[in-house]
Amino acid sequence: MKRVLSGIQPSGQLTIGNYIGALSKFVKLQHDNRCFFMIVDLHAITQPQEPEALREQSESVSALYLAAGIDPSKASIFLQSHIPAHAELGWLLTTLTYMGELERMTQFKDKSSGKESIGVGLFTYPSLMAADILLYQADLIPVGDDQKQHIELTRDLAHRFNSRFGEFFTMPELYMDELGGRVMSLDDASKKMSKSNPNPASFIAMLDEPDVIRKKLSRAVTDSGREVKYDPQNKPEIANLMGIYSHFAEMSIAEIEARYEGQGYGPFKKDLAEQLVAVLEPIQQRYREIRKSGEVAGVLKKGAEEAAVIANETVLEAKKRMGFLIN
Ligand code: TYM
Repeated sequence: MKRVLSGIQPSGQLTIGNYIGALSKFVKLQHDNRCFFMIVDLHAITQPQEPEALREQSESVSALYLAAGIDPSKASIFLQSHIPAHAELGWLLTTLTYMGELERMTQFKDKSSGKESIGVGLFTYPSLMAADILLYQADLIPVGDDQKQHIELTRDLAHRFNSRFGEFFTMPELYMDELGGRVMSLDDASKKMSKSNPNPASFIAMLDEPDVIRKKLSRAVTDSGREVKYDPQNKPEIANLMGIYSHFAEMSIAEIEARYEGQGYGPFKKDLAEQLVAVLEPIQQRYREIRKSGEVAGVLKKGAEEAAVIANETVLEAKKRMGFLIN
């Protein structure tokens, strides 16, 4: 069985970008792999978070994991902060990371650009992410395209550790499909759809009400012309919507083109909204039930107990190899 690990930051509403790029993949992978799915609260605080909002979002994202179909009897679901070994291995790996490597990270450049003071945590973020992955000796990492560079750095750090201290860490691999890797913003297809975008019309949140979803899609920017044709170079906005459609309706791009031949954008966008509602409405219903039931705390406790066994073993061995005295 392969080990699969991934995480999502509890730093705002999850969007259909998070769902397509990450969460829906988690649900698929849980059946045939040993899976670890985290809520990465230690990463969330690399940008300022209100304590109450952080608590609420951590519980909300955990409930969404369950509502989307992650089964806690198959996968370990846990909060990163519940396992101190993340911070500990994070520090050990920070000491193996070069400034130049972190300076090259595009996510760091994006998140720090235009800011007067930049937190050190935002800078060392990728070393902590490497620790998340290497702690579980994970083989496959399902993430969107924006995390690719972080996975490459993780591989470099694993390699660096292994060549200095002896073969130990498993080399992780990116798990991504072409269409789902990068869902773009609804108001500008040159930007990634993001939960931190201040314009809520730019994204669809997983918890948006059906009517909000319909409204946002009817207003989504489309390219000039009227043909529903997949041409990311010349028609990036419609190509993005087709990618979303393909994912939610489980239809190929060719099938979508055939269905809407000669029909224009109107019917396509209307149907797309209904495809989204058909998938998201039942998830929202389950989400409300899960929040009411109070079951999240127990799931997180069990997940952390399972994950800690592996994480603690890994960090102990890493410390031994690095020369720490162990009691
Ligand atoms: P985060 O919280 O920004 O996003 C969570 C996941 O959603 C994916 N994603 C997208 N995929 C496609 N299109 C989009 N528009 C889109 N927006 C977000 C992200 O690629 C990600 O997979 N650093 C990570 C969290 C993390 C992590 C880890 C992931 C921490 N430790 C260890 C994997 C393994 C992050 O900030 O994700």
